[in-house]
Amino acid sequence: MTILVTGGAGFIGANFVKYIIKKYPNYKVICLDALTYAGNLETLSDVMDNPMFKFMKGNIACQETVYQLFENEKPDIVVNFAAESHVDRSIENPRLFLETNIIGTQVLMDACRKYGIKRFHQVSTDEVYGDLPLDRPDLFFTEDTPIHASSPYSASKASADLLVLAYHRTYNLPVTISRCSNNYGPYHFPEKLIPLMITRALADQPLPVYGKGENVRDWLYVEDHCSAIDLIIHNGCVGEVYNIGGHNERTNLDVVKTILKTLDKPESLITFVTDRPGHDMRYAIDPTKIHKELGWLPKTKFEEGIKLTVTWYLQNRSWWEHIVNGEYQSYYEKMYGNR
Ligand code: NAD
Ligand code: TYD
Repeated sequence: MTILVTGGAGFIGANFVKYIIKKYPNYKVICLDALTYAGNLETLSDVMDNPMFKFMKGNIACQETVYQLFENEKPDIVVNFAAESHVDRSIENPRLFLETNIIGTQVLMDACRKYGIKRFHQVSTDEVYGDLPLDRPDLFFTEDTPIHASSPYSASKASADLLVLAYHRTYNLPVTISRCSNNYGPYHFPEKLIPLMITRALADQPLPVYGKGENVRDWLYVEDHCSAIDLIIHNGCVGEVYNIGGHNERTNLDVVKTILKTLDKPESLITFVTDRPGHDMRYAIDPTKIHKELGWLPKTKFEEGIKLTVTWYLQNRSWWEHIVNGEYQSYYEKMYGNR
């Protein structure tokens, strides 16, 4: 079995690459990643020399690159993580999000049609459903909740989802989609809430909380996301969407206070800043379908996961310090430029 993992040098993709290599030592894993600011080969350094793993630098929206890869490697399964993933950046520069998240998905699926595939899996997000009000804790996103995206990021992911389902209906492409809640854990890029707050708190820098910090996110430890995708690509029903989440809702302020407590840092570091435009209030996933159909349950509770994550950032300072000081961007040239 050959799996093509796009975006495998990013946060969740890299965790997934490692998860698959460990669980299926006889699978060949190919990673295609453009190494944008969010891609980091240092994250994959422990699997780079594995004979069953191959890294290729390239853009999913480049047809020539993608077709060549399919021609040479003939993947059986494609798991598409590659994306521009940060809402705040999408507000600054929407176009890049459309190019990667929509056109990139189309190019990958056209390659799947041309060369044949057992499964194309699209890694999507609960953000395609828009948001829920804070005063209705009884409401959750199900797979039937209408698409109602708020940001250029979520609109681009929603567009890609529609395209994936259209390719199934029109061309009979064997697709699945997963829509997951906010992930956290090792190798999370320190522009996102949890790693940003951990790394800034360690440096005793102010922690910028948007608005009043009352927005709610449903947090899932990254390994639980990987196990869900593993189940979907092997046992999921073609043409179906699966929501992934573990009922770990927290306000942003709660999350930041938990991090400060774990690090023994003062709450005086919290600084309330101007809110994000169009800021979604609450995300909350109903994971009944994936539990009932595929038997998936998350293993890591938030209290445990946040401790694991803080410990990881304490023990892997060089990983995020290289990001903060920009060194990671020259790593590819230094390590692989002459290979
Ligand atoms: P990330 O930003 O950490 O990583 C994205 C990766 O994609 C990077 O390695 C980057 O170099 C690569 N990439 C970007 N543009 C590319 C292109 N044109 N061609 C090839 N590679 C490209 O993102 P993440 O947090 O790991 O998210 C991965 C996927 O999961 C995304 O599709 C995202 O929408 C989805 N998702 C993320 C979360 C979350 O909480 N982070 C939750 C649900 C879904
Ligand atoms: P983020 O990690 O960007 O994920 P998403 O917007 O995709 O949910 O942000 C999580 C929450 O944290 C979101 O409500 C915005 C908020 N936030 C802050 O309050 N301060 C920050 O510096 C960042 C990056 C996010």
